[in-house]
Amino acid sequence: MSDPQTPEPRLSPPPHQPNVPSPVASTGGPAAAAGPAAALAAPAGAPVVPGTAPAPGAAPALPQTGPDEVALLIDDRPVVVRKGTTVLQAAEKAGILVPHYCYYPGMSIAGNCRMCLVEIEKMPKLQIGCATVAAPGMVVRTNNERVRGVRAGIQEFLLINHPLDCPICDQAGECRLQSYEKDYGRGFSRFAEEKVHFPKRYDIGRSVLFDAERCIKCTRCIRFCDEVSQSHELALFSRGDHAIVGTFPGRPLDNPYSGCTADVCPVGALTWKPFRFKARVWFLKNVPSVCAGCARGCNVNVATFRNRIHRMTPRVNAEVNTYWMCDAGRQSYDTLYSRPRFERPIVRGLPDATVEQALDRAAALLRDTAKTGGKESVAAIVSARLSLEDHYMAKRILGELAGITRLAVPPHEEGEDDHLLIRRDKTPNARGAELLGLGAPSSGRVREILDDVASGRVKGLVVVGEDLLDLAGVAPATLDRLEALIVLDAWKSPTVERAHVAIPSCGYGEFEGTMVNFQGRAQRLRAALRPPGEADPAWRILRDLGRRFGLTSEYATAQAIFDEIAAKVPAFSGLTFRALGDLGAPVRGAAVPGAAGAPGTVA
Ligand code: SF4
Ligand code: SF4
Ligand code: FES
Repeated sequence: MSDPQTPEPRLSPPPHQPNVPSPVASTGGPAAAAGPAAALAAPAGAPVVPGTAPAPGAAPALPQTGPDEVALLIDDRPVVVRKGTTVLQAAEKAGILVPHYCYYPGMSIAGNCRMCLVEIEKMPKLQIGCATVAAPGMVVRTNNERVRGVRAGIQEFLLINHPLDCPICDQAGECRLQSYEKDYGRGFSRFAEEKVHFPKRYDIGRSVLFDAERCIKCTRCIRFCDEVSQSHELALFSRGDHAIVGTFPGRPLDNPYSGCTADVCPVGALTWKPFRFKARVWFLKNVPSVCAGCARGCNVNVATFRNRIHRMTPRVNAEVNTYWMCDAGRQSYDTLYSRPRFERPIVRGLPDATVEQALDRAAALLRDTAKTGGKESVAAIVSARLSLEDHYMAKRILGELAGITRLAVPPHEEGEDDHLLIRRDKTPNARGAELLGLGAPSSGRVREILDDVASGRVKGLVVVGEDLLDLAGVAPATLDRLEALIVLDAWKSPTVERAHVAIPSCGYGEFEGTMVNFQGRAQRLRAALRPPGEADPAWRILRDLGRRFGLTSEYATAQAIFDEIAAKVPAFSGLTFRALGDLGAPVRGAAVPGAAGAPGTVA
């Protein structure tokens, strides 16, 4: 459930278009005709460069630059960029959109679509902005009549063999062919001949479908497989209007990042199978959040429609995941729907119990067990998949107020770290648990507690966010020995079934909070869904349990808890919930050497 004090998450920019600046009217045409002074004054959002106000009718003066900088004029706007910046990127910096298909940041420049052609003074032919490096004093026009004519021609050319099946295409609404045709096209075609036909709905890989008729041969997908995933499955076969993207015999598109090919595809040629025909993209609400599939914490947009997650796509964060995410993370929300949710509290011997009754019984059981068996007879197992706020409240309520001295965090590891993003540690907040003093995930500490449960030394156990019978070597009979088993979880599970008291908590996408990734970066998760039944964030359930142990602090929101963490835990000092923003911030002294950023270049 969203915190009442936290504002509605702002909608993120459309996915798959990290390099599109907010639309600003270009000034190459009418504004230029009205004179450079008008051009300089007109655009909102253009960078203000000191000392460049031109005399009426004169061209704007270029500002002084440092040794690594270049100053140029784009549509009469002075722009200063670093040496090596392309004209397209320089225009982007000035808030001018140069339309493009084949350019994509983080990959090499192919320069094959020609959509980014611009006019550069003293160059007789139009030049492609994506591959032309900005030079001192360059005068660029991105939107005059000549450029617009060529763009319209390229649009007409690209659509010659295109099937125009927008009404049944999943890309509709975020397709560049569509939006550029509206903005730059002529709106008609002179092509009356039969189109070249290609395979449609072709199974090119495990999770991606290919419609060859929609492909504009921009080669983004091929470059992604060559340069980013380094799996080399795709290539361009044949020539001319028979050219087609394809795979090599026996090697389908099947790498751990294959979904990124659908992200980079500017049209509806490559589509992510699990999302096909699930929802029109204009109905989706994109909430900026973080993937909880592993310790990387890739920045994502969680797309929801009718209180259900339908898609997760990468969100640009140069420090964490650049432009990408893995397929497992992309589908990680499946766990929310793959098992029955746990929606109402369970109290053994008390049918239809309320949450309040469940909390009363839980507090009484913890007290009685500690009274008869001593403090060592009660322990807690807390998941590293929970948020920092959940961990803090677990430590505060279970550790400090209820007096549980034995707390353990189970590890979840699988496979190996790879060359790009994937981490072996499949828990998203192990660093957070460690920094708050719950200890690093340790199968040894969990095993000790469970051995003591089996021997009868531990009689009371609180489990937050884990199904213990999912851990290797735990027998149901072990849990049956407990006199008090209290469970907080989002799903029905064999552990929940054995509990004396069980209370439903939120799953991924249903709570606000923060997590610390393996790099030591605190990042915010946002609530995108209403939780089912009576499920609540674990921190709120723990807070209410704490009231039974004398807790007086209000802890009304995740924000209030995080700000207390920042005030009390030195590693988090100086941070605030709000200041974490969409990109997070490093936690003091927690950075892991050699893990300062993900591989890949952010242009
Ligand atoms: S399938 Fe998409 S990304 Fe690949 S070449 Fe065709 S249009 Fe470009
Ligand atoms: S690498 Fe990890 S955090 Fe990133 S998308 Fe994959 S599972 Fe999620
Ligand atoms: S974006 Fe420049 S040629 Fe394609």
